[in-house]
Amino acid sequence: MNIVETDRAYVWHPFTQERTAPPPLPVVRASGASLFLEDGRELLDMACSWWVNVHGHSHPKIAAAIARQAETMEHVIFAGFTHEPAARLAESIVNALPRPLARVFYSDNGSTAVEVALKMAWQYWRNTGQPGRDQFLAFSGGYHGDTFGAMAVGRTSGYYAPFEGLMCQVRHVPFVSTWLGDDACEEREAKALAEIDAVLDANADRCAAFLAEPLVQGASGMNMCRPEFLRAVVERMQARGIPVILDEVMTGFGRTGTLFALEQAGVTPDLVCLSKGISGGFLPLAATVANTRIYEAFLGDDFHNAFAHGHSFTANPLGCAAGVASFALFEEEGTLARIKRINAANRAWLAEVARLPGVGRPRALGSIAAITLGRQESDYHASVGAAVKAACFKQGLLIRPMGNVVYLMPPACISQEELARAQHGLTQVLRETARLYAS
Ligand SMILES: Cc1ncc(COP(=O)(O)O)c(C=O)c1O
Repeated sequence: MNIVETDRAYVWHPFTQERTAPPPLPVVRASGASLFLEDGRELLDMACSWWVNVHGHSHPKIAAAIARQAETMEHVIFAGFTHEPAARLAESIVNALPRPLARVFYSDNGSTAVEVALKMAWQYWRNTGQPGRDQFLAFSGGYHGDTFGAMAVGRTSGYYAPFEGLMCQVRHVPFVSTWLGDDACEEREAKALAEIDAVLDANADRCAAFLAEPLVQGASGMNMCRPEFLRAVVERMQARGIPVILDEVMTGFGRTGTLFALEQAGVTPDLVCLSKGISGGFLPLAATVANTRIYEAFLGDDFHNAFAHGHSFTANPLGCAAGVASFALFEEEGTLARIKRINAANRAWLAEVARLPGVGRPRALGSIAAITLGRQESDYHASVGAAVKAACFKQGLLIRPMGNVVYLMPPACISQEELARAQHGLTQVLRETARLYAS
């Protein structure tokens, strides 16, 4: 059997209706911004392979760091032991975040980074004698992963109907999306903040934590808010003593133009969740960073107050070595300056493309550019995305629309010529498919 036949016989793919999905495409090589298929075709990866890749595929420096580490020590238990890549990466992360964020707890993926943060916040209140804190607050529309706690906080993303009965208590508060040329967002923000105040007046002393994706809600349709709005919400939470968890799983490591999105909002959360780009997108790795107040609430003379959580592959040395190498590349390659150039090119393109019929809500932050097609609310179930995706594929572009939201998110290494090719190809596709969404 060839690769696809073998895959079809034995594999179950994520987020896929296995009966109707077309056969998966075998990828044999990846380099820079490109993926190379078994049949010789090349695709520009405009989704960073589920938002993980940072500097480009198969970057030789990250590949070499992983190879060196694999030859030295591939993995070791992380309870009672440590190693250089884990310690060095934690140091770099802490130095890049505002104080008092100071303690790095490693896990394997974005969902576990969130799960760990929720559990830390929950146990923090039990360790400090306030067990009445029995619910979480989160933005409507947020997506935080597919484990149980992460599903509960991301419940309004609409993915989890079969699991409804199994989720912990979460109260959702409004998120205010905005886009280029949107003049009315301050009014919408004021209304949302008044609603949030009312929720806090009634419930603040029951809230264990507030969780949010900072500046961009990824999976709910690359919806972006103003830094001022995020800051106003975070300040309200912290004024009431509610710990704030920022989920930087997608936004972290340069995606929004700064190393972390929280920098643009000028806020210091109590817990931060990191994954995806933490290893440059090479290996599964995650970190939950806690402030000293939370960390110290777990200290004691016996195991009683300790955080009883861990994974077999916690702080895997290969992933951490990739993370250390990726951090160095931010300096060596001027990654944030590259992302700034991508942003400028995307804004110029959005100004053009937003004039096409049915194309609306142009928005851009860091390396992300997004538009909404047809009905101007993000609609994950809109079928237009599949048609746009298929037509882009014929143009040599990997894009992954979310319903009627189409976005570009290239790795930082993409050349100006490659980016222009992707933008031009997508514009062509939008002209061809306009009859599906433009009335
Ligand atoms: C903001 C955010 N949090 C958490 C996750 C979950 O990460 P993972 O898929 O690695 O579990 C994602 C994944 O897309 C995400 O975008």
